[in-house]
Amino acid sequence: MKRTFSVAPMLDWTDRHYRYFARLISRHALLYTEMVTTGAIIHGKGDYLGYNEEEHPLALQLGGSNPADLAHCAKLAEQRGYDEVNLNVGCPSDRVQNGRFGACLMAEPALVADCIKAMQDVVSIPVTVKTRIGIDEQDSYGFLTDFVDTVAATGCEVFTIHARKAWLQGLSPKENREIPELIYERAYQIKRDFPQLNISVNGGITSLEQCEAHLAHLDGVMVGREAYQNPYMMAEVDRRLYGDDRPVLSRAEVAQQMIPYLERHIANGGRANHVTRHILGLFNGMPGARQWRRYLAQNAHLPGVGAEVVADALASLPDAARAA
Ligand SMILES: Cc1cc2nc3c(=O)[nH]c(=O)nc-3n(C[C@H](O)[C@H](O)[C@H](O)COP(=O)(O)O)c2cc1C
Repeated sequence: MKRTFSVAPMLDWTDRHYRYFARLISRHALLYTEMVTTGAIIHGKGDYLGYNEEEHPLALQLGGSNPADLAHCAKLAEQRGYDEVNLNVGCPSDRVQNGRFGACLMAEPALVADCIKAMQDVVSIPVTVKTRIGIDEQDSYGFLTDFVDTVAATGCEVFTIHARKAWLQGLSPKENREIPELIYERAYQIKRDFPQLNISVNGGITSLEQCEAHLAHLDGVMVGREAYQNPYMMAEVDRRLYGDDRPVLSRAEVAQQMIPYLERHIANGGRANHVTRHILGLFNGMPGARQWRRYLAQNAHLPGVGAEVVADALASLPDAARAA
C-alpha cells in the first residue's frame, strides 16, 4: 500500500457509498472511513465496520482514548480486512472533547502512545495517527515535535498532519477547518527531522499541482473536501502520482457504473438518495454540472425511486458532458 494520495476521513461524507464511488475514479487512492468511535463499535447496535470489497486499500479511523477499547476495535478491524487503523487526534468538536478524544489528545502524548501501543500489540496492520499541528496556545513547533517523538517511540511510523492548529473553545468544527492558518512548513520540518517516518500533509489541497508540490517534501498528501465536492479531480491521481497509465473511466462511465451498485443497494432495502447524495459533484466544472446536481437532488429522494434516476440524470445532460 502506497500512501501517496489519500482521501480524508469525513463524518457523514466518506461512508461506504462515497468510497465505492471514489474507487471507480482512482484505483490507488487510500480511502479512509468516517471516524467511528470505540463506543459505537462496542455498544452500538449497527454494523459500523461494513464496507464493499472494492474499496481497498481502506483504512478505518477510530475515535477513542481508552487503550483496551481501541485495541479491541483494532482487532475487529483487522479481522474484517481493513488495511490500516488510524487514530483521530484532530477532531475539535465538543462531543469528542467530552469523550476526551480527538484533537484534545494532542495535550496527552503519553496517552496517545499507550493507545497506539495497545493497538499495535494486537494487530499486524499499520496503526497510524492523524493529528493537527497544535491546539490552542500550544502551537509551537516544539510542541508538535514532542508529540510526534513520543508517539513514534511506540514504533508508529505513519502520521498525517492537518497543517493547522485547532482551537478547542469558541470555534465550530467547520471554522476549525477554515480559520486557523495553514502552515505546511511544519509538516515539512517534521519530515526533515524524522526522515524515517512516513508523513502526509492535509488541509486546503485542491489540485494535483498542489499535491505534486507537497510531494517534493513529503511522502503523501491527504485531500478532504475537494475530493468530495469535486471528486473527478481524482481521475489523474493514478497516472500523475502513482505512474499507472491505465485508462480511467470518464465521468459518464463512473455514473453508469453506479447504476448496478444503486440497484443492489435498493434491492437490499436502501434508499436511492443515500447513494446519490455523494455523487452530486461528479460533473463539477463541466457544462451540465448544475443540471446533474439538480436532477438528482430533486428526484432521488422521492418515494419508490429506483436506480434509473442516475440514468435519467445522465440523459438530461448536454452531449459534451456525457462525452467527458
Ligand atoms: C464533513 C467533514 C467531516 C469530517 N470528519 C472527520 C473525521 O471523521 N475524522 C477526521 O479526522 N477528520 C474529519 N474531518 C476533517 C478532514 O479529515 C480534513 O482534515 C479537513 O477537512 C482538512 O482537509 P481538506 O482541506 O482537504 O478538506 C472532516 C471534514 C469535513 C469537511
